[in-house]
Amino acid sequence: MATATKEPPTPTDVEWADRLDGFVQRAQEASIALRKLDQETVDRIVWAMTVAGLENAVELAELAMEETHFGVLEDKVLKNYIATEFLYDYLKDKKSVGVIEEDRERALQYVAEPIGVVLALLPITNPTSTTLFKSIVCAKTRNALIMRPSPRAVRCCRRAAEVLQEAGEAVGLPPDSLQVIPDPSLEVSQYLFHHPGVDFIWTTGGPKAVAAANAAGKPCLSVGPGNAPVYVHRSADIRMAVMDILISKTFDASVICPAEQTCVIDDAIYEQVVEEFRRMGARLLTDEQSDALAARSFTDEGKVQLDVLGQSCVNLANMAGFEATDADKVLLAPLPSDLDALASHPFIAEKLMPVMGLVSSPSVEHGIRACELVTEHFGLGHTSAVYATDSDVIDRFALSIRTGRILVNAPTAVGALGGVYNSMTPTFSLGCGTWGGSNTTDNTNYRNLLNIKTVSRRQTPSQWFRVPSDTYFNPGALDNLRQLTASRPLIVTDRWTMARGVAEEVRHYLTAGAVHVYSGIEPEPTEAQIRSGIEELERFNADAIIALGGGSVMDAAKAMRLFHESPQLSVRGLSLPFLDPRKRIAEFPQVEHKVRLIAIPTTSGTGSEVSPAAVISVGKRKITLIDYSLVPDMAIVDPNLTLTMPKEITADTGIDALTHALEAAVSIFASPFTDAFCIQAANLIFTALPRAYRDGSDLEARTSMHNAATIAGLAFSNAFVGLNHALAHPVGARFGIAHGRANAIFLPHVLRYNASLPSKFMPAPGYSAYVAPEKYAEIARILGFGGRTEEDRRERLFAHVDELLAEVDEPRTLADCGVSLKEFEKALPDLAKAAFMDPSIRTNPRIPMIREVIELLEVGYSGGA
Ligand SMILES: NC(=O)c1ccc[n+]([C@@H]2O[C@H](COP(=O)([O-])OP(=O)(O)OC[C@H]3O[C@@H](n4cnc5c(N)ncnc54)[C@H](O)[C@@H]3O)[C@@H](O)[C@H]2O)c1
Ligand SMILES: [Fe+2]
Repeated sequence: MATATKEPPTPTDVEWADRLDGFVQRAQEASIALRKLDQETVDRIVWAMTVAGLENAVELAELAMEETHFGVLEDKVLKNYIATEFLYDYLKDKKSVGVIEEDRERALQYVAEPIGVVLALLPITNPTSTTLFKSIVCAKTRNALIMRPSPRAVRCCRRAAEVLQEAGEAVGLPPDSLQVIPDPSLEVSQYLFHHPGVDFIWTTGGPKAVAAANAAGKPCLSVGPGNAPVYVHRSADIRMAVMDILISKTFDASVICPAEQTCVIDDAIYEQVVEEFRRMGARLLTDEQSDALAARSFTDEGKVQLDVLGQSCVNLANMAGFEATDADKVLLAPLPSDLDALASHPFIAEKLMPVMGLVSSPSVEHGIRACELVTEHFGLGHTSAVYATDSDVIDRFALSIRTGRILVNAPTAVGALGGVYNSMTPTFSLGCGTWGGSNTTDNTNYRNLLNIKTVSRRQTPSQWFRVPSDTYFNPGALDNLRQLTASRPLIVTDRWTMARGVAEEVRHYLTAGAVHVYSGIEPEPTEAQIRSGIEELERFNADAIIALGGGSVMDAAKAMRLFHESPQLSVRGLSLPFLDPRKRIAEFPQVEHKVRLIAIPTTSGTGSEVSPAAVISVGKRKITLIDYSLVPDMAIVDPNLTLTMPKEITADTGIDALTHALEAAVSIFASPFTDAFCIQAANLIFTALPRAYRDGSDLEARTSMHNAATIAGLAFSNAFVGLNHALAHPVGARFGIAHGRANAIFLPHVLRYNASLPSKFMPAPGYSAYVAPEKYAEIARILGFGGRTEEDRRERLFAHVDELLAEVDEPRTLADCGVSLKEFEKALPDLAKAAFMDPSIRTNPRIPMIREVIELLEVGYSGGA
């Protein structure tokens, strides 16, 4: 038999250290063997150890009594049962080897590994039960255990370890898995605390032991002393409370850290409770007796006299010079209600003997404060209890008291160990939280003794393709407005469209009796224009908005509906920056709209009629609101409305649409669904834009362009745009350049930038290879631009873009747009920052460095010459 019995170290220093090193070395060897055990073997070992503990529970309790000279034999036996039977019941179906848990939904696996060599300090209060508990937990977790018992409980701990080692070894527990170091000197602990072969310290003890273990500078789990207060409220079941407290306070003569120490009683029931205590066998002390006992129990410095621990009432009375009988279960010491006087009374401390303080309390507030005061005397983090049926009182108590366990209508001593009166985890190691020097408030158990590795498999979230419910297109599509059932539609437009008579034309298609027009929107709409639009909408009590105009009007209309339906929201709150649109903080209301939104574009560019975006100007900045709740309910894409577009607007809006298609194509959210839309949009634009530009009355070209803009809108509504838009937004806002024109300036440069090798990749699980350069080449191939190699094809796409820009006379630099160098240089830092913050940048395939953003802005200014 490999045994836990080792002779005490001999006195010479070198030998002493050698002997201790020997313990550690054997433990290390055991830990290597332990790590090889599988779950089945571990569970067999745990079972065998449990059986041995149960069979020897009485013998071990007797040994503990003999050696420590205190406590109650029957209760020590019970403790040994809890440390074996209850623990086994809890552990039996728990996994502790290999994959112990799996979360398929989140693709996570948890793999358990042992710690290695654990050094445990054992308390004098529960010597054998703690040995059984820690030994079984270490076997379950495949850790080798070296135990340091209290100097006054060495023999019983050694015997407990021996019994378990023997039983475990018979079914596969490696030799020396459990060892007890018998040397009583403090230096031994210190030596082992700092020993490189010890991986973890597991302390159960007083404040000094906890502090010393924590100071060792190693991973540790230290649990300290308790000083449990109990509050008995007037709503409590008095008979139950008294019996519970007596069961608990007499348990092992109160040498157990969670035992009740001071009972704070609502004054309305104080007499009744005391009477019930008396009836059930408790003795109420006089003030003199209480003072005498306090003086005998503690030194002047408040240190407890060891000979009073766990003594019977008769012995304690004898020691203090008064009389008690064998029938007395507990001695009740009345304590002052005045909180200052209570704080300075010696009996506010922990009393590891059948002595409990009583405090009469005039209010719940006072009662809770008195209990807090008790915990503040070395009881923080440990245990407390409340007896009440009034759940408000229970809640108030639970919120105030800083203890790791708060027992409601149950005894603390037996209750806190878990499993008897409740479903808490069975333990003999009660975490006291940071208040008590522990890193946990858990009823600690096997999980605290494992290194749990998280194996996280890559997860690629699913994608989507959302389109608005109704889109009507081709010349004459306006006719579909006749279906609109709204009774009070509001046409939102700008004054130029109004002046061209388009609003009047639209009015002809509406069957509603009352139609109102609001024409206060201007290009790059401001919050103020949107606010007056909302006032108009509310004054007219509209049930539908018909947005008639370019992107500016449609975006303004989206914002009008949003802030009309949810006036509590702000532009600031909804436009917070985000990293992943699926996780962002801004929350848009997901409610059914009260007001219908019909979008009728008169430019062929923004795609706003189908998109979830609305761009609005705030000061000199452009803010993008994005959410699918902004998508219009119906889009009417009638090219007849675009015939009046002047050349410049035709060019600018057409290039905006092309930018949408080319950005969505390489976005990190691009999918086969959006790719199809990008390619068709680009295809139509390359052919139709020059024609529509040259001859605005070419309805066929206008039709292609109008459809292309909406098709590109559907692509970027799902894949979003990128860096080009992030640059164009602040530049357009700052220098008053039309949105499409600002896009045109950056488009050639952003294409080449995205085609080159990124200095930084965009972290996105769905974008696992840098395919932007290939995708540009693929577009060129499908559009039939020729080219033999991939690079050749890509260059041809870029050349086609350059040619198109030239054909539609787009200015190629900001300088060409009339921006002075001085003005540009002054604005540059702000522009770079705003571009970097623009949400469009989040879906660009390359994550640009701020330096690169500045370079691109500079190239945009000068053309790179
Ligand atoms: N919501 C989105 O998804 C989205 C996408 C891209 C751009 N935008 C935003 O859209 C706005 C730009 O919209 P836009 O390019 O359509 O321009 P716009 O709406 O600002 O209109 C520009 C000018 O063209 C005039 N106009 C419109 N249609 C006309 C027609 N048929 N005939 C003659 N004149 C006409 C307007 O009256 C206005 O003066 C910018 O604020 C931009 O940021 C939004
Ligand atoms: Fe755009």
